[in-house]
Amino acid sequence: MIQLRRHLILMRPGFEEPLKDEFSARFSLEGIVACRAGVSFPESARMPKVVDTVFARQILPRALQFIGADDKSAAEFICERIDVLTKRGNRQSGSWTLHGFAIDDDDNLARATRIAKLVMGHVRTSQKDFLKRYLSPEAFATTERTSSDILLQIYAPSNDAIWFSCGTMAEGISVWEAGFQRMKTLRGAPSRSASKLEEALAYLGVHPKAGDTAVDLGAAPGGWSFVLARHGAHVQAVDHAALDLKDMGPLKGEIIHVKDNGLKFMPEKAVDWMVCDMVMGARDTLGVLKAWHEQKAMANFVVNIKLPKSNPWPQVSEALGLIESFGWTSVKGRHLLHDRSEITLIGRK
Ligand SMILES: C[S@@+](CC[C@H](N)C(=O)[O-])C[C@H]1O[C@@H](n2cnc3c(N)ncnc32)[C@H](O)[C@@H]1O
Repeated sequence: MIQLRRHLILMRPGFEEPLKDEFSARFSLEGIVACRAGVSFPESARMPKVVDTVFARQILPRALQFIGADDKSAAEFICERIDVLTKRGNRQSGSWTLHGFAIDDDDNLARATRIAKLVMGHVRTSQKDFLKRYLSPEAFATTERTSSDILLQIYAPSNDAIWFSCGTMAEGISVWEAGFQRMKTLRGAPSRSASKLEEALAYLGVHPKAGDTAVDLGAAPGGWSFVLARHGAHVQAVDHAALDLKDMGPLKGEIIHVKDNGLKFMPEKAVDWMVCDMVMGARDTLGVLKAWHEQKAMANFVVNIKLPKSNPWPQVSEALGLIESFGWTSVKGRHLLHDRSEITLIGRK
């Protein structure tokens, strides 16, 4: 029944080729498109951590692929694997959870959920000690993890295939199901892209603090300015279009609209945060970022880069090359969950 045993990497559907290009160029790893939103790599390959990549959302280490198995036989096979694991790891004390998921497909999700339920039923009746170490997916994702904690994953990419993986947190897996960390909707935000900046800040691991200064290039209708002000920053919101500060509610006193060209704007004094979400070609945006860096005009940045529809890797590579040349403490490029044909560059001096 098992067809393959390979590492499986998940990405946004449609970004399989850019991920292959990234892994080949940055990590010398050659992958093959193995299923919907999945690229697989040989079991012997050393995988990067999800957070160190642009396009990977989740890793299923040493995943087993079953083709054509009904729910019951897929679950039985997974249970056998779990029994082997618990025998081998009976001195381990790490916590574990189980993700059963599909990507944007209700039928496949229902199938993964049914199999996960069968597996949990087996653990409840036959693996009492292992069950004591179980955490709900929510608790697993929102409390501190150790490198020996285990994530079991069941992915249903189609109606006839199932992938099963058992990996430890030491392997750079995301704690979120399919790598999908939902951001809370921000009440009162004037646009949905507010959540995108929250996601970028969570990824950077630093937020603006009270009293920080910030410039938001391409600010209207104000979602990103809202997020910066909500964290306590004083914001210059640069946009040649109108920006209605009334939409900012109680935060409007922290935001000044500067009606100017974001391609040319420079603050009088260096600011703590420069964020940029202007809709324009990547070259222009990278030109703005380069100029700000050369003028030492910011200490942190979050910059959105539009990608060409086909073959985006060269553009991504150029963007990474630019931010890596800054020599800063932390710079990253990330295809955020909120990003479609774009990536977000983030950096901290
Ligand atoms: C995608 S929207 C920004 C959304 C915003 N980040 C939010 O969260 O609400 C892009 C904005 O960039 C502005 N923009 C585009 N080119 C610009 C330029 N050269 N100078 C100033 N603003 C520009 C547009 O007017 C538009 O309001």
